[in-house]
Amino acid sequence: MRVVIVGDGKMGKAVAALAEAKGHAIHGMIGAAENVGGRALTAERLRGVDVAVEFTRPEAVVANLERLIEAGVPTVTGTTGWQDELDRITALVERRGGALLHAANFSLGVPLFLRAAGDLARRFAGRAVFEAGILEEHHAAKLDAPSGTARELQARLRAADPARPFPITSVREGDAAGIHVVEYAGPHERVTLRHEARSREGFAAGALAAAEWLPAHPGVHTVEDMLFGEGG
Ligand SMILES: NC(=O)c1ccc[n+]([C@@H]2O[C@H](COP(=O)([O-])OP(=O)(O)OC[C@H]3O[C@@H](n4cnc5c(N)ncnc54)[C@H](OP(=O)(O)O)[C@@H]3O)[C@@H](O)[C@H]2O)c1
Repeated sequence: MRVVIVGDGKMGKAVAALAEAKGHAIHGMIGAAENVGGRALTAERLRGVDVAVEFTRPEAVVANLERLIEAGVPTVTGTTGWQDELDRITALVERRGGALLHAANFSLGVPLFLRAAGDLARRFAGRAVFEAGILEEHHAAKLDAPSGTARELQARLRAADPARPFPITSVREGDAAGIHVVEYAGPHERVTLRHEARSREGFAAGALAAAEWLPAHPGVHTVEDMLFGEGG
């Protein structure tokens, strides 16, 4: 497969290294300096590319996705902080018959964690003695808070138990790749469900698996579609 990497930061580099190790060809790594407003993502520059993997910044991702979709390149993005634009980008993908897979978290355990959290919330529903909340902790350089995964987790929990708000506490310190915890605290006991990303390579492996899967699957997808099938 011929892969273009958009964003040459920590994640872009991790995906490129893994893709090369798996025998894929890197068509190029497109960094910020040459790509203001997505201007490097031309049909000419992208000719021969099978898939794009995009890990940039919240303020850059939407222009990049527009250009990649317009150019007809199936695109995997892990950039967070752009969910307000998802409907507009989805309409563009549908109009162009393109393919997009987006995920706030490419750890393969996260979709399972989200489902387990929904199950936990259903079991604790109506147990007023417990206070429920979400804690998320990331390295100090992470720009957005709460994390995309924490927002998704909150939405799942609220869907499972609409009576609780599930407030999110965000911590930014140290170099944690990503920790998400659901906590039910009672006066004498505490129940927690925790996901901890142990390294960036787990995100890179998930993103690359998505890049291998996406070209044969037009439309807008999440990792859950890839793992469990549509609506699974
Ligand atoms: N989905 C997941 O599993 C997952 C995992 C980890 C991180 N993330 C998210 O992925 C994003 C990137 O994370 P990271 O850790 O790789 O951050 P990072 O190390 O800061 O890398 C981001 C890179 O994007 C570059 N960039 C900015 N605008 C660009 C543009 N228009 N075109 C091309 N490149 C551009 C930045 O360049 P400059 O520094 O020069 O601006 C930087 O090199 C963040 O939103 C983060 O929250 C998602």
